[in-house]
Amino acid sequence: MESLDQSNGEKKWLSHSRIGFVGSGKMAKALVHGFLRNNKMSLETPIWVSGRSKGSIQSFLEEFEGHKIHTTLDNRELVNHTDVVFLCVKPPQAEEVLREISALMASKVFVSVVAGLTIKDITQLLSHCMVVRAMPNLPCQIGKGVIPYALNRDEDTKNRKMVSLIHYLFSLLGHPILISEDLMAAATALVGCGPAYVCMLMIGLIEQAKAYGFPDLEAIQLMNEMVLGTLSLLMETKRSPEKLLSEVKTPRGITEAATQVMVRKGWEDILLEAIEAAKKKAEALEVSLK
Ligand SMILES: NC(=O)c1ccc[n+]([C@@H]2O[C@H](COP(=O)([O-])OP(=O)(O)OC[C@H]3O[C@@H](n4cnc5c(N)ncnc54)[C@H](OP(=O)(O)O)[C@@H]3O)[C@@H](O)[C@H]2O)c1
Repeated sequence: MESLDQSNGEKKWLSHSRIGFVGSGKMAKALVHGFLRNNKMSLETPIWVSGRSKGSIQSFLEEFEGHKIHTTLDNRELVNHTDVVFLCVKPPQAEEVLREISALMASKVFVSVVAGLTIKDITQLLSHCMVVRAMPNLPCQIGKGVIPYALNRDEDTKNRKMVSLIHYLFSLLGHPILISEDLMAAATALVGCGPAYVCMLMIGLIEQAKAYGFPDLEAIQLMNEMVLGTLSLLMETKRSPEKLLSEVKTPRGITEAATQVMVRKGWEDILLEAIEAAKKKAEALEVSLK
């Protein structure tokens, strides 16, 4: 894929493309924040958002006050005004939307972020457009997301230019990675759900810091900076977590007193079982939406 510096063609494409979001909830908001952040998407690029109720549209507009966002309660109106359509509704709501917009999607780009909705399910109803299935996570909101995405099996070889444009679009949200659709349930469990695992770890650390007597704000700052510092060290020095662990954990030292408890209590088993439960749920959703 071309680097962002080499991406003048993609930038030009984006400046001419109109982007729409069907669904005005948490994921649509995270994506729009990500796109608008630091003016990464030109303010002239019109963004369209459709919703089911005036309430959710109103809450969307309030969150993006000052930005030029067109809203509608009619998904077909959104499709008529856009070139790239993101589907951001809950899984059970997806089929109804696909049927509704199907006839209007010819030669447009359709990006679904709906968990469990397969490319095959989508193309059964949308046959004449480019279909992308993605599983972004909420850090997209600040341009630090991970965006695993899959394409119609031969789309990437058939339509290299379009794939490069899609990759560029996702790169505005963080780190895109083109994967085989077979890995989408795993990507959902690891990347989509991932921020929840990190938050559970953070909650445990912060609560313990408070229990030891640190004031609330100090406890949060202490643990946030500790985790950020650890991650930055891993990334900047390209050190593996195993290597860093061995550096922190000297034999019979203080850290080892903690890690021994974590191993004895089955820390790794708990984490693996949790991820596997999420993956199974994502796979079951794929089956139930068929
Ligand atoms: N949240 C995450 O971390 C995350 C991560 C990756 C992928 N996803 C996927 O993103 C999708 C959306 O999740 P979410 O967390 O954003 O859910 P959400 O906050 O409940 O948002 C869903 C939105 O869809 C709207 N909607 C429902 N039916 C509609 C219709 N027929 N036409 C237009 N809009 C409609 C809802 O409107 P009302 O409010 O008026 O009902 C609501 O605003 C899900 O499929 C999920 O799998 C979420």
